[in-house]
Amino acid sequence: MIDENMSDILYDLAVIGAGPGGYHAAIRAAQYGAKVALIEKEKLGGTCLNWGCIPTKALYASAHLIEKINEANEFGIEISDYKLSFAKAVERKNKVVQELVEGIEALEKGWKNDVYYGFGTILGGNMDTGFEISIEGKDNTTIKAKRVIIATGSSPALIPTFNIDHERILTSDDILDPNFKSLPEKLLIIGAGVIGCEFANIFATYGSKVIMLEYLSSPIATEEPMIVKVLQKKFEENGIEIHTSQNVLSVENISTGVRATTCSADIPRDQISSAEKNIFEADLCLVSIGRAKESKNIGLEQLGIETDRGAIKANPDTLETAVRGIYAIGDVTGGIMLAHVASYEGDIAVANALASIGGFPVHEMKTNYTVVPATIFTSPNIGSVGYRRNVAKNLGYDVLMGQFPYQSLGKAKCMGEEEGFIMILADKETHKILGASCIGTEAPELIAEITLAMQHGLTIHDVTETIHSHPTISEMVLEGCEAVVGKSIHKKGHPIHH
Ligand code: NAI
Repeated sequence: MIDENMSDILYDLAVIGAGPGGYHAAIRAAQYGAKVALIEKEKLGGTCLNWGCIPTKALYASAHLIEKINEANEFGIEISDYKLSFAKAVERKNKVVQELVEGIEALEKGWKNDVYYGFGTILGGNMDTGFEISIEGKDNTTIKAKRVIIATGSSPALIPTFNIDHERILTSDDILDPNFKSLPEKLLIIGAGVIGCEFANIFATYGSKVIMLEYLSSPIATEEPMIVKVLQKKFEENGIEIHTSQNVLSVENISTGVRATTCSADIPRDQISSAEKNIFEADLCLVSIGRAKESKNIGLEQLGIETDRGAIKANPDTLETAVRGIYAIGDVTGGIMLAHVASYEGDIAVANALASIGGFPVHEMKTNYTVVPATIFTSPNIGSVGYRRNVAKNLGYDVLMGQFPYQSLGKAKCMGEEEGFIMILADKETHKILGASCIGTEAPELIAEITLAMQHGLTIHDVTETIHSHPTISEMVLEGCEAVVGKSIHKKGHPIHH
C-alpha cells in the first residue's frame, strides 16, 4: 500500500495496467531515469501472468510430461502404474504464477517505481501541467504525472448468447482461477482459436473428453492450412472432437451440466428457426471466442480519446492518442493481441513519452510490425512469423517454399519427437525470407531464428551459410532454408543449377 501523501509527487510517467505491456513499460521508463507510477486494479503481470500465457504453459508442462510418460516404455523405462492429479498440476501452476508475480513486484521495487493497487481513471490535464489520475481500491488517492501510458488490456468477451455464469459456463479466467482444481469428465469448448486449442490439448491429455465447436470451417484459421491439418490429425488421435462450421445458438446450464444447441453456420439467419439443430452436452463449457478491450471508465470520454468497439485509437507509429502526452499500448488498442507485442509497444511509448519531456537518454521511436512471431502451445507446438503463403502470393510475391520434416532430423529422432515439419517461404527474386511456419517440438523456439533473420532482411543463404550446431533441433531451420532451393542434405532434392 502506498502512503496517501505520495499524491504530492509529480511523476514523469504513470502507467495504467501492469500486464506485460504496462509492467514492462514502467521498468523501461525507470531504466531511463524516470519517476514512475504503476497502477494495477488486480495483480501485477495482468492477464498473461495470472490468467493467460504463464498458467496455461505451466499446465501444458504437466500435460506434456504425461505424453512423455506414455512413451516411456519405448525409451526403456517401464512404468507399470501412475496416477494423475489435476489438482496437483493446478497447485504447481499457482506456485509458478505466484513466484513470477512476486518477481515483478521485486523488480518494480528495485527500480523504485511506486505501485498503486486500484482502478485508475484519468481525470484530466494536459502535457504542460500534467495529468491527474484517481486511484480507487486498495490504494485510494489521486496522483499527477507528466505523461500517461494506458495498458489496460483485454478480458474474455462476454456475449449474451453463451450465458456465461462462471459456474458451469466458463471463461478462460474461470478455468485458470487458482481454485479450479477438479477435472471435468466432459468439456465443451466454444471457439477453436488459440485459447480453445491450448485448453483442449491440456484437458484431453489429462483425460477429459473434449468437444470443440467452431464457427469457421477450420480451427485456428489464422495459421497455414498444412500446419492446421497436422494439429487436427493429432487432436483426432487424442479423442478431441472438432465440429467446424457450427453456429452456436444457445448454451444453457442444465443443472446436470451444460447443453449447447447449434446449427450449420451456412444457414442464413432467417432460416435458422426451421433448420436442423445439433445438441452437445458436457459437464462444463469453456467459451473462448475472442477478447474484449478494457477501455471503460478510465476517463477516455471526457478527455476526447476515441474508441472503436472498445479499442483505443492511437497513432499507429507513435502510439500517442488524440490527447498529446497520453499513449495506449497492448490489447486495449485492438492491434495484435499478444503479450510480446504489448511489451514491444511499451518500449515505443516510453521512448516517445520521455523524449517529449526531454532530458532522458532516449529518442523518439516508431513501431514496426512487419515481423511478429506467434506461438501456440498445443501438442505438437506451433510457431509462425511473417507472411502466410496465400498472403505473400496476394501481395504479388513469387513465393519459393521449402519444407523439412522432423522425422528426417537426427536430434528429433533421438528425442522421439518426429511429428511435424517446418516450412520456409522466400521471395524468388531476392531469396529474402518472407515467413515461416512450424509444427513440432520446440517450434516456438525455432521461429526465433527466422524472426531475427527477417527483422534484418536476411536471405535464406544468410541462414544456410551460418554454422548450426549438430545435433540440435535448430537444424530444422537450416534444413528448411536449404530446402527452399532444393539443397537440404537430409531430404531428397534436385541438382543445383546456376
Ligand atoms: P481467437 O480469435 O484466437 O479464437 C476465437 C475462435 O472462436 C475463432 O476461431 C473464431 O472463429 C471462433 N468463434 C468466434 N465466435 C464464435 C461463435 N459464436 N461460435 C463458435 N466459434 C466462434 O481468440 P481466443 O482463442 O479467445 O484468444 C484471444 C487472444 O489471446 C488471441 O489474440 C490470441 O492470439 C491470444 N492468445 C495467445 C496465445 C499465445 O500466444 N500462445 C495463447 C492464448 C491466447
